[in-house]
Amino acid sequence: MRVLLVGGGGREHAIAEALARGGAELYAVMRNRNPGIARLSREFLLADETDGGRVAGFARRIGAEMAVIGPEGPLAAGIVDALTGEGIPTVGPTKRLAQIEASKAFMRGLMARHRIPGSLRYGAFSGLSEALDFLERFDGPVAIKPSGLTGGKGVKVVGDQLKDLEEARDYLREVMEGGIGGGEVVIEERAEGEEFTLQAFVDGRRVVPMPLVQDHKRAFEGDTGPNTGGMGAYSDANGLLPFLEAGDRKAAEDIMKAAIAALRAETGEEYRGILYGQFMLGRELRLIEFNCRFGDPEAMNVLSILKTNFVEVCRGIVDGRLRDAVFEPKATVSKYVVPQGYGLKPMSGKRIFVDEERIRREGARLYYAAVNEDGGAVYTTSSRSVGVVGVHETIAGAERIAERAMAGIRGEGIYHRADIGTEARLGRKIRKAL
Ligand code: GLY
Repeated sequence: MRVLLVGGGGREHAIAEALARGGAELYAVMRNRNPGIARLSREFLLADETDGGRVAGFARRIGAEMAVIGPEGPLAAGIVDALTGEGIPTVGPTKRLAQIEASKAFMRGLMARHRIPGSLRYGAFSGLSEALDFLERFDGPVAIKPSGLTGGKGVKVVGDQLKDLEEARDYLREVMEGGIGGGEVVIEERAEGEEFTLQAFVDGRRVVPMPLVQDHKRAFEGDTGPNTGGMGAYSDANGLLPFLEAGDRKAAEDIMKAAIAALRAETGEEYRGILYGQFMLGRELRLIEFNCRFGDPEAMNVLSILKTNFVEVCRGIVDGRLRDAVFEPKATVSKYVVPQGYGLKPMSGKRIFVDEERIRREGARLYYAAVNEDGGAVYTTSSRSVGVVGVHETIAGAERIAERAMAGIRGEGIYHRADIGTEARLGRKIRKAL
């Protein structure tokens, strides 16, 4: 089957590999020349991934029989509408449904209108004075979130990234006057606890869950520093996480199912793609955000252990006949190598050296991310560079594999978080959650 993949990051390299493993004849559209995806593809187009006309034209020319969209940008821009308009069944929600990620105001409104559990007290504003007024009157700590897309870096919490109310007011002004994330803002109750991610395949009605994952958003070890798109993540062999139980996963699944039903009831459209729920487990389970795609790096964790043929899963999604997906009962740890300054002012354009053979010898999977291959050499961009994933019976074993594999990646101005998946870091999380 001829499958077009849109996107050129580590998540998309993991998707590309899963599609190729499933027997797809792969074609790709990506912004950067990702060497991993390029190698797996019969042909690829370097282009703006949000340009629906250009992507649809390429899909038509290569005779794509199905498309899979990786990042949120093209989904929010309506790439699925463009491709399905050409008769190409596509894994990913339409522009209208992608609002579940592209508009936090829409998402919070959907949860409130349908009384979906896990909601938070919130207000959504397009005018600065109303937002400032709400902030003054809110009793308790808050998070300030640009409503639109910001690459995972726009959320700031009072008492964390924002020292006090004065910094919160300044940030509100910066977001609304600067048009960050569309200039609309959501102010919501700060949720306390341990964050985790549930990703699911969705065929319009059925929601098929994947193993739970916990990502690490902070740039530096000890969960410090600026927020990033994610520095690395782990999952456990039983599909749960060390600080939660099966009942918590079931509650998260129920919230995802309720959201899919609510979307269908409100729009009359069927959500066919990946749904990502970011949850906070404290005294109660709270929904922090929905994304309309796989997580990055979380996709690398779950796709590394997917046993079911991924092409069949995608076919089930677009046909509305999704079956259960089977994953190896193994733990995973992913870690990203990123450019110094990532999350704030990244250094880009530096050459890195990836010893693929050594990484393979260590037993790790390798996923190229936002790098550019030029004349056989690999250069960093301003985002994450290379991901490695260890797979093992235990999280500790997977972590050791990932960490040893890191010795196969060298270069100036790059680093990774060595603490992700270690027993020391996990122990803290378990103690914090108890
Ligand atoms: N790793 C977080 C995300 O993909 O949104």
